[in-house]
Amino acid sequence: MTNAVPLYVARETAARSVGVEEVLQRILEVGKERGISFDVIRTGGRGLHWAEPLVEVGAARIAYGPLEVTDVEGLFDAEFARGGDHATRLGSLNDHAWLKGQTRLVFERMGLGCATDLEAFRSLGGFGGWERACDLGPDEVLDELDASNLRGRGGAGFPAAIKWRTVKEAQADEKFIVCNADEGDAGTFSDRLLMEGDPFCLIEGMMIAARVVGAARGYIYLRSEYPLAKEILSEALEAVRQDGLLGPHFDIELRIGAGSYVCGEETAMLESLEGKRGEVRAKPPLPAHAGLFGKPTLVNNVITLASIPWIVARGGKAWAEFGHGRSRGTLPVQLGGNVKRGGLVEVPFGMTLRELVYDFGGGTLSGRPVRAIQIGGPLGTFLPENALDVPLDYEALAELGGSVGHGGVIVFDDTVDMARQARFAFDFCARESCGKCTPCRIGSVRGVEVMDKIIAGDDVNENIALIEDLCETMKEGSLCAMGGLTPQPVLAALKDFPKDFHGGFGS
Ligand SMILES: Cc1cc2nc3c(=O)[nH]c(=O)nc-3n(C[C@H](O)[C@H](O)[C@H](O)COP(=O)(O)O)c2cc1C
Repeated sequence: MTNAVPLYVARETAARSVGVEEVLQRILEVGKERGISFDVIRTGGRGLHWAEPLVEVGAARIAYGPLEVTDVEGLFDAEFARGGDHATRLGSLNDHAWLKGQTRLVFERMGLGCATDLEAFRSLGGFGGWERACDLGPDEVLDELDASNLRGRGGAGFPAAIKWRTVKEAQADEKFIVCNADEGDAGTFSDRLLMEGDPFCLIEGMMIAARVVGAARGYIYLRSEYPLAKEILSEALEAVRQDGLLGPHFDIELRIGAGSYVCGEETAMLESLEGKRGEVRAKPPLPAHAGLFGKPTLVNNVITLASIPWIVARGGKAWAEFGHGRSRGTLPVQLGGNVKRGGLVEVPFGMTLRELVYDFGGGTLSGRPVRAIQIGGPLGTFLPENALDVPLDYEALAELGGSVGHGGVIVFDDTVDMARQARFAFDFCARESCGKCTPCRIGSVRGVEVMDKIIAGDDVNENIALIEDLCETMKEGSLCAMGGLTPQPVLAALKDFPKDFHGGFGS
């Protein structure tokens, strides 16, 4: 098309949920009326959820957002196709403070090109890690992984190199790679953003993993709530197959979950993949020794696997130059809840939560004071506002009784009732428990009942003692971290917000 104006628009769930398709449609309609044609490039989301629906226009990629359908005529009046001034004009995103303040390694390509165009991926450095992995050989790749100090981004933070080496050294006629794309933690979306916006990066990471551990088959276990990711991943897998990089030597199958949170736990996920009910398995054996169909299986999170191409292409040492203490590299933080500017912020470990919540997030959307944040998903700890100076790293959070988890940060303002949040943690566990072990299955239900009594003001001190006792039992006796971590938000709420448990919130 001659003289068509490039128009970059995310094909991504968050943008869709706020009407990006309708805005795009209107731009094309008005463009037709005014004789302006566009060359539409469907990219991944840049992670500025607060600015969606967002479009970038022209060779200089001047961004406008957040847009409504009713803004479109005005955009044309302001000559936005030439970068004209408009109330929604954000300028070039590369110069925008939100992105400039980040260190994008895993998300380095995010939003730059068409997400399902293999040539665009290659032109942006894609398959650089794969090519180097082929030159190096498995042991040297493992050395790079060792040097990077990469830890699993799914929640447990287990060193990736140890897991990979264990699977590599296991003797078996067949081995598997499983990518955990269940992303069940409320308020987390980095896996989805990556799969929708740079699916080849994940595929490249899995190809490298398969080559290192000696697997001929890989699975992506994707939650059913991500239909767009399913569509995009399917297109991307087919494109790589057509290219010959996936095939009989190593292929990846996309499997869809059925809406269970606990199926994100690796052993429940393996059961589900085998076609069984998603119940947790007792460990040992570890999946690395006896996983899918009893064979050695490498289970890694989407972001862990998507970090691999960068690490192998640039070297583990380069990765480890970012970070803080023993937590190396970057973490794609997902800012959400009651926050002015929610979205994806990839930063090196060590940034304080205060910088994340205020500098990136801009404080609460409601404009009220921040009272608490929850970090690490629904089983993650609560931190009060005065604890936000803690650096984001595995060890610093562990000292506070918390964990980085999958990097979700949920902001609450001063209207939050923490006793109700503690009740929510038990209720969530009761609804999502696989039911295999008693502390989790029964403990969570008893927890809800006792919290109801506390909220009603019945024998508060005795019932708090009961809750503490119950938490101890769940922590020590549960088969997996579902029941084991539920006490984390409950005990944090009790410790830092005791008033909410005595006589009700706000007293
Ligand atoms: C209840 C529960 C839910 C989990 N959900 C997920 C999930 O949705 N995605 C994920 O990657 N890991 C999840 N995990 C962690 C996995 O069990 C496992 O540690 C992870 O997939 C390993 O990959 P990594 O080493 O790359 O982090 C969950 C764990 C528990 C206990």
